[in-house]
Amino acid sequence: MYLQRRNRILRQSPAIRSLIAETLLTPSDFIAPIFIDEGENVNTEIASMPNYYRRSLDLTIKEVKELYSMGIKSVLLFVKAKDEVKDNKGTEAVNPNGLMQRSIKAIKDAVPEMVVMTDVALDPFSSYGHDGIVENGEIVNDATVEVLAQMSVSHAQAGADFVAPSDMMDGRIAAIREALEHNGFTKTGIMAYSAKYASCFYGPFRDALDSAPGFGDKKTYQMDYANRIEAVREAVMDVEEGADIVMVKPALAYLDIIREVKNAVDVPVSAYNISGEYAMIKAAAKMGWINEEKAILETLTSMKRAGADLIATYFAKDAVRLLNA
Ligand code: PBG
Repeated sequence: MYLQRRNRILRQSPAIRSLIAETLLTPSDFIAPIFIDEGENVNTEIASMPNYYRRSLDLTIKEVKELYSMGIKSVLLFVKAKDEVKDNKGTEAVNPNGLMQRSIKAIKDAVPEMVVMTDVALDPFSSYGHDGIVENGEIVNDATVEVLAQMSVSHAQAGADFVAPSDMMDGRIAAIREALEHNGFTKTGIMAYSAKYASCFYGPFRDALDSAPGFGDKKTYQMDYANRIEAVREAVMDVEEGADIVMVKPALAYLDIIREVKNAVDVPVSAYNISGEYAMIKAAAKMGWINEEKAILETLTSMKRAGADLIATYFAKDAVRLLNA
């Protein structure tokens, strides 16, 4: 056989393969999501997320120190609010002494170099488990946006480096940017969950925070997974409104969307490798049906290859360990 071109030449050894690899993961690609609980010395494993924990602030600080020492440069904070403080106005979301605000301060004090990002949405604080204010069974947009803007300012006051609105209300990026500007927070970034789909894969996260919607679903604000062009419109609008980073979420079933958004905007793109994606790999590995370590690196690499500059992932620590191995 005479062949002008043999593609296998570049695949013949680990050294050659690594020389020509197009996509490399590094620890600073990762954002580690953190679940925070009230109390002390609390370390609760999330049933649907094996080996992932919800911790009180004291143990969270230890964890953040460890993450930073491993080379992970960013955390994304979520808090579990007690039932007593939940209402339909987001009162606890803007409480300057709320668990979120206390956590931001404590983490920035303990590890000032760590880039602290915060989830901005009402669901953990909502008696209805919805991302916005509910009136007559509807999630109302404009009143919610006002609270989200105040919430963002309160996170910035506590020391957050980036606020990450995950609510999918219209116009919230512009409102948040304006509120930050008016309050002098000219260095606070916005990582917008721009293309956030109504996904069944959020289930384990809602277990972690006890934040499942009390009625209905989130389809009147989160996107329909049938749609692609709409994701581009959302991302472009968020950049126009002032987003510094745009996000696509979930990641694994949406790699085409990550690429589409990456090609459409001139800001960094983040992917969120969400709870259900974590749970699927954990479950299949536990059954002995797939190799967990290989699945972690393959899926994370696929997100970066698709165009993600950053990846929020519950596998951040595992991935760093594997990359260093
Ligand atoms: C809340 C929020 C959700 C996630 C991040 N922020 C859940 C939801 O929209 O119901 C999901 C993250 C994950 O599943 O890992 N606005």
